[in-house]
Amino acid sequence: MSVMYIRGGTPLEGELAVHGAKNSVLPILAACLLARGPVTLYNCPKLTDVTAALGILRRLGCRVKQEGHTIVVDPAGASGCSISEEQMRSMRSSIIFLGPLLARMGEAHLTYPGGCELGPRPIDLHLSAIRALGCEVSEDQGIHCQGRPLGGEVQLALPSVGATENAMLCAVGASGSTTIANAAREPEINDLQSFLNLLGARVQGAGSSTITVEGSRGLHGGEYTVMGDRIVAATLLSAGASAGGRVRLSGVDWRHLATVLSVFHQAGCRVESRLEYVELIRERNTPLKGVPTIRTAPYPGFPTDAQAPVMAALAVSQGCTLFVETMFDSRYRHVSELIRMGADITTEGRVALVRGVERLHGAKVEASDLRGGGALAAAALGAEGTTVLSGLSHIDRGYEELEEMLKRLGADVERREV
Ligand code: EPZ
Repeated sequence: MSVMYIRGGTPLEGELAVHGAKNSVLPILAACLLARGPVTLYNCPKLTDVTAALGILRRLGCRVKQEGHTIVVDPAGASGCSISEEQMRSMRSSIIFLGPLLARMGEAHLTYPGGCELGPRPIDLHLSAIRALGCEVSEDQGIHCQGRPLGGEVQLALPSVGATENAMLCAVGASGSTTIANAAREPEINDLQSFLNLLGARVQGAGSSTITVEGSRGLHGGEYTVMGDRIVAATLLSAGASAGGRVRLSGVDWRHLATVLSVFHQAGCRVESRLEYVELIRERNTPLKGVPTIRTAPYPGFPTDAQAPVMAALAVSQGCTLFVETMFDSRYRHVSELIRMGADITTEGRVALVRGVERLHGAKVEASDLRGGGALAAAALGAEGTTVLSGLSHIDRGYEELEEMLKRLGADVERREV
């Protein structure tokens, strides 16, 4: 097992290019099943969730090669239509393979992806979308789907990111056309649309609440560069706000982080965003100010994935911040660990009241989910003394070598096997 030793109290100073987006590369890898020729993907992050997705593609008969941040998938040999329980549990979003499997094979057998640290992860919207596209779905001891999709009208009760992506991927293989209403508008869905259209699909409307898909009989191969990870960027900016200093990041479209940048501006940071970079500056002797209310919401609202890292930064501030987490039942697991570091936070259901304190102190803390782990690292950089952070397997799901990124920004951090 490895742990991170983080010595706080030193302002950050540095710049780096943010790695590719986990929440974009995962649906794009699943979409490779729709291609008849090889696909080359650039700017792919080296994450355990990506490794798990590559394992699923291999078990389905694809040939897969990863060299650094480049992945080549040759789906020509894909023949399987079943994903084992073990594989479904290896990655939280394995359900994203359902749509492309049905589009390619006309059949899919998999199990429930299981809940995760954030609480139950229902898939009812995914299954209702698949049914609306004309496939038969039975849930007798697992998920068993038959029938090539026909296309049709998908009306999502919630703008679910995963259900929108599954509906898009299934609809690409349909015989007719599809309209997806109340679609999620996250930037990763635009990235998926761009990728699919590069391979010859005809998808329109990503970024709006209505997406249309023309059915097609298989796509050709191609090359694509995955977008940068806006949540990793939000985490690194939170580290800068927490420790003070200057952090400059490139590789992400800053319009995708407008709500997060606005919060840091309100908290007293200097934020400068240009096409090619964003820079956050917080003078060490200028404490952050509390921000009245931060309510998470589907894009373009404040991203739920940035809630924990931003809370970690605002734990040391003048004044209070009220967080309302509208997306998941159990997304405050980092709070107890922040309290161990001296934070003053009260939670009641999906509401968390952060009363800013003058400083945090180092402690032994454990990450229990991906973004909560990023939050604890950000808090440790602003704390006095040394923090020992464990639970790094959660962090490695979505941050590529977080300790190296922080070192590049001037942090005193070390990862050791214990
Ligand atoms: C995606 O998860 C992201 N994961 C999550 O990021 C992110 O937090 C979430 O979108 C919201 O932005 C990936 O893209 C791989 P949803 P997803 O379906 O698709 C409910 C991270 O840290 N719902 O938009 O699973 C659900 O319970 C991860 O990188 C249903 O009720 O999220 C939630 O309350 C964590 N039924 C809400 O919708 C369904 O069938 C939004 O979930 C599906 C979802």
